[in-house]
Amino acid sequence: MTEAAPSPAFEVRWLGAGDEALAARALREVLDDEPRGIDSGWLADARVHFVVGLLEGQPVGVAYGHTVPLPDGRIEMLLYSLDVGEAYRRLGIGRALVDAFLARTRALGFDEMWVLTEPDNEAGNATYRSVGPPSSRETSVMYTWGVTGDGVPESGA
Ligand SMILES: CC(C)(COP(=O)(O)OP(=O)(O)OC[C@H]1O[C@@H](n2cnc3c(N)ncnc32)[C@H](O)[C@@H]1OP(=O)(O)O)[C@@H](O)C(=O)NCCC(=O)NCCS
Repeated sequence: MTEAAPSPAFEVRWLGAGDEALAARALREVLDDEPRGIDSGWLADARVHFVVGLLEGQPVGVAYGHTVPLPDGRIEMLLYSLDVGEAYRRLGIGRALVDAFLARTRALGFDEMWVLTEPDNEAGNATYRSVGPPSSRETSVMYTWGVTGDGVPESGA
């Protein structure tokens, strides 16, 4: 284990309704993503969990995920996306964001948290391993269907 830890100027901040401008900035600057859905209530949705890592006020890491309610009454947290800006990697920021997600999952009384990453994503796997041993780890195949507005699946490989 390395001892990488974010500097004291680093802050983990959960965002919600009213934080749209900072959330949009974080998505643009960290993921180079155009956050088209931000102004349509996405951040205010109680099932959305969005956390940023700020270094001297500047967004350098982003993680977001979703509440997944199951028919047996259990509730899971899906950590859907985790990214740290290239210039800020290997400083403990990714681990801090995953830790924050685990803490929120516990605080909300959910049953478990899960995340997907590719087997060859060295940084992703190392980061998820670094927060402590998972209760399970498996390799799955993911199928995705792009679906057009009229519900007709797009053709493709
Ligand atoms: C994955 C990612 C978020 C890690 O962020 P980070 O801030 O660099 O990670 P940390 O500094 O907190 O490192 C956490 C642990 O992973 C290890 N690690 C991080 N990057 C690594 C790499 N490229 N190779 C090997 N180990 C790595 C660190 O050494 C640390 O281990 P330790 O706790 O034993 O010291 C970042 O690399 C990233 O944004 N990658 C692109 C997006 C991505 O792959 N997201 C995750 C999968 S969906």
